[in-house]
Amino acid sequence: MAEQKIILSETKDGILYLTISREPKLNALNFNTLEELKNIFNEVNDNKSIRGVIITGAGEKAFVAGADINEISELNELNARKFAEFGQEVFEIVESCHKPVIAVVNGYALGGGCELAIACHMRIATTNAKFGQPEVNLGIIPGYGGTQRLTHLIGRTKATEILMTGDMLDVNEAQALGLLNHIEPNKEAAIAKAEEILKKIMSKAPLSIGMIVDCVNAVYASDENGYQIEANSFARCVKSEDYREGTKAFLEKRKPNFKGE
Ligand code: COA
Repeated sequence: MAEQKIILSETKDGILYLTISREPKLNALNFNTLEELKNIFNEVNDNKSIRGVIITGAGEKAFVAGADINEISELNELNARKFAEFGQEVFEIVESCHKPVIAVVNGYALGGGCELAIACHMRIATTNAKFGQPEVNLGIIPGYGGTQRLTHLIGRTKATEILMTGDMLDVNEAQALGLLNHIEPNKEAAIAKAEEILKKIMSKAPLSIGMIVDCVNAVYASDENGYQIEANSFARCVKSEDYREGTKAFLEKRKPNFKGE
């Protein structure tokens, strides 16, 4: 019998909807879930019919309440390193996806859940969402890139406090720190907001969107020269059909018809 999938996926009108569905365990991420996520995102870049991704958690209580503590409780030094490196690899694939990825954070986003949310390009939270990195309560630290991304996103001062105390932030605190794009009253409204943003982005030149991902990510990569990547990407844009179409359409006072070529 085929193994049951933990991530439910559905594509509609160019948007891939992913739901982490392990509701009795508050959608905690186990190894299989991470592997599914990796396989899905490896396909997303190549699939022209997918123009954007929304990730959410099943139910109303949690986005993802962390990596699976049952798995964490059995690690040794060697496989702990591999555990962290694999999670980092998967979230890096999410972050570098050339299609916009929005996390709809519908409740607890803790530990690996917070790390997943901040690896996405944008975050829309419901009013009951809570963010935190409670790993210090378990005698560990974040291992899926959280110490790095959180610090990049909100700065060293508050990131250090959140990482060291394990405290949870409510949506107003998360918004004040710049973690959120929008707050919506419930999951339905948050998904509608994500769809509104993705539809707007889908009307733009797809190659430009992918290059914006590369350039923005380069800000955070210590071994990259972001300005050079921007200049190279800009030059690659002008080789595209969409560049000709976009500039021509403006001059002809009509809407561009982008093809992603
Ligand atoms: N890994 C594995 N199981 C988890 C989990 C995780 N990260 N988070 C929650 N669960 C499980 C609980 O063990 C419980 O399972 P059970 O019903 O079989 O006992 C179920 O999900 C519901 O969680 P529960 O703790 O009963 O819900 P709550 O409303 O009382 O508390 C939280 C919610 C999120 C505050 C609490 O579950 C929690 O602190 N989770 C761990 C968060 C964490 O440390 N994440 C980082 C991991 S690195």
